[in-house]
Amino acid sequence: LENGLLRTPPMGWLAWERFRCNIDCDEDPKNCISERLFMEMADLMAQDGWRDLGYVYLNIDDCWIGERDDRGRLVPDSKRFPHGITFLADYAHSLGLKLGIYADMGNLTCMGFPGTTLDKVELDAQTFAEWKVDMLKLDGCFSTRQERIEGYPKMSAALNATGRPIAFSCSWPAYEGGLPPEVNYTLLANICNLWRNFDDIQDSWRSVLFILDWFVKHQDILQPVAGPGHWNDPDMLLIGNFGLSYEQARAQMALWTVLAAPLFMSTDLRTISPQNVNILQNPLMIKINQDPLGIQGRMILKEKSLIQVFKRPLSGDTNVVVFFSRRTDMPFRYHSSLAKLNFSSSRIYEVSPLPLQPLALPPGVWFPVSW
Ligand code: DGJ
Repeated sequence: LENGLLRTPPMGWLAWERFRCNIDCDEDPKNCISERLFMEMADLMAQDGWRDLGYVYLNIDDCWIGERDDRGRLVPDSKRFPHGITFLADYAHSLGLKLGIYADMGNLTCMGFPGTTLDKVELDAQTFAEWKVDMLKLDGCFSTRQERIEGYPKMSAALNATGRPIAFSCSWPAYEGGLPPEVNYTLLANICNLWRNFDDIQDSWRSVLFILDWFVKHQDILQPVAGPGHWNDPDMLLIGNFGLSYEQARAQMALWTVLAAPLFMSTDLRTISPQNVNILQNPLMIKINQDPLGIQGRMILKEKSLIQVFKRPLSGDTNVVVFFSRRTDMPFRYHSSLAKLNFSSSRIYEVSPLPLQPLALPPGVWFPVSW
């Protein structure tokens, strides 16, 4: 979507994967979906270096809505968001962050809160603009195919008509199976800044691989449609939660980086370990993910189901190569060559290994690459 926004993949924090639809603020006041949670995350994003590295979007997901008022306007849950969304947007902006919100193109959100039916699209876009929101994720539960066909373009136009720059994240393809002919990626790139192609990520390595394998299988379709202002979204980073080992967390970071994926963490920034902070804050990964050319990487080689090699062209006549080991029993030595990696053999290349942690590598975690 050529609205001037998201010329590189968005980076930020999204509530869903870690905090879900916990609305029990009586029992669990620190972790329920409430303005307190978002304000605490905002404070940490500003204090702990996240914002300065580019993690600027603070995004609300499902379960913030209370009801529609007599004029039909969305109202946040008054107990959990007592000061309203404008207050939260102002708070985010005062810290140099941006606020994202969630709605659902359909009768109800996935968790059963009021949805945005076709007749409410314009009203909701205006409401979000008045609230000074900076991004909208439009989910697709409880809708018909026809409503989505009409609704997503309608919302895109309605957001544009507000005059406020609001990045638009569309869950549409995930509700159509993610592939042509049901999904028209040319259209999506015109009306959305990013889109969820496939299933929700869950807190497990299995889920990471399931999503990755689907993206690789369909890379001929997906890779060409990504670029500045319009990105494929394989869903949130799990880093800092419960399902991934340290190595798996590093692998997700490297893979999402080479895929030019949005980097939305969904973790508790109050308790995240220094190791996981280092993965998410690795300046080289962020720099590569945010490369201005915005070309999505591809898997270029797969060897004996043991190793997958991904390559992404970067600006400045540079490429990044990710060697991803699918072995789970042990690290191993892998031999490669310029030819195998599709580099010209008549040129001279400078190779810099890009360790996720430049200093103090724990022993035994790198499978060495030799040439
Ligand atoms: C489905 C989406 O794909 C998830 O990311 C999340 O937004 C949930 N709905 C919320 O109900």
